[in-house]
Amino acid sequence: MAAEPCWYDSDVERVVVSEAEIRDKIEELAAKVAADYRSVDSILLVCVLKGAIMFLADFARALGRCGPPVELEFMAVSSYGQGTTSSGVVRILKDLDRDITGQHVLVVEDILDSGLTLSWLLRYLASRSAASVEVVTLFRKPDAVKVPLSVKYVGFDIPSEFVVGYGLDYSERYREVPYVGVLRSEVHARPAL
Ligand code: XMP
Ligand code: MG
Repeated sequence: MAAEPCWYDSDVERVVVSEAEIRDKIEELAAKVAADYRSVDSILLVCVLKGAIMFLADFARALGRCGPPVELEFMAVSSYGQGTTSSGVVRILKDLDRDITGQHVLVVEDILDSGLTLSWLLRYLASRSAASVEVVTLFRKPDAVKVPLSVKYVGFDIPSEFVVGYGLDYSERYREVPYVGVLRSEVHARPAL
């Protein structure tokens, strides 16, 4: 039976990574992380809001099936404004709720673009005396490769174009889309968004 069309279907020009591809990749990433962290007591997943929320939810459950106990913390930083270009400014909107001294921290990121947000965040977390700090990002754009950042776990390398879905938004919309795709150019031109 064909599914009913969703409100966003007509706004999406092209699917970049499908729902099934995301699901399989998360299992693969969780298995790698579980193997690397098999001797630790617990992993503290630091989710960078809001974009990484879907990834965090699925990744934490995948890791739960094969890895050590997981704890969750949330941070919110702003690097992008309301549109699709970087402001170059990183601001803490929500800080960690507790001390991370001695914890094995794994930063859960949605997408790595210029690397500006992450390099700032890693410096910040390093100053908080964690036992280790690593990064898992579901998506990486080509520009990120130019930045001298140690990102141990990468899901998909995607082209340098603005994508939405699976937590990623355009003006706070499209986060619930289960896949990642590119919007039609007319959508960006709409006055309401
Ligand atoms: P930088 O350039 O600091 O950017 O690595 C990382 C943050 O920018 C956002 N970002 C996007 N958000 N679609 C989005 O919805 C995109 O294609 C995109 N590229 C970057 C995102 O918040 C990420 O954490
Ligand atoms: Mg965003």
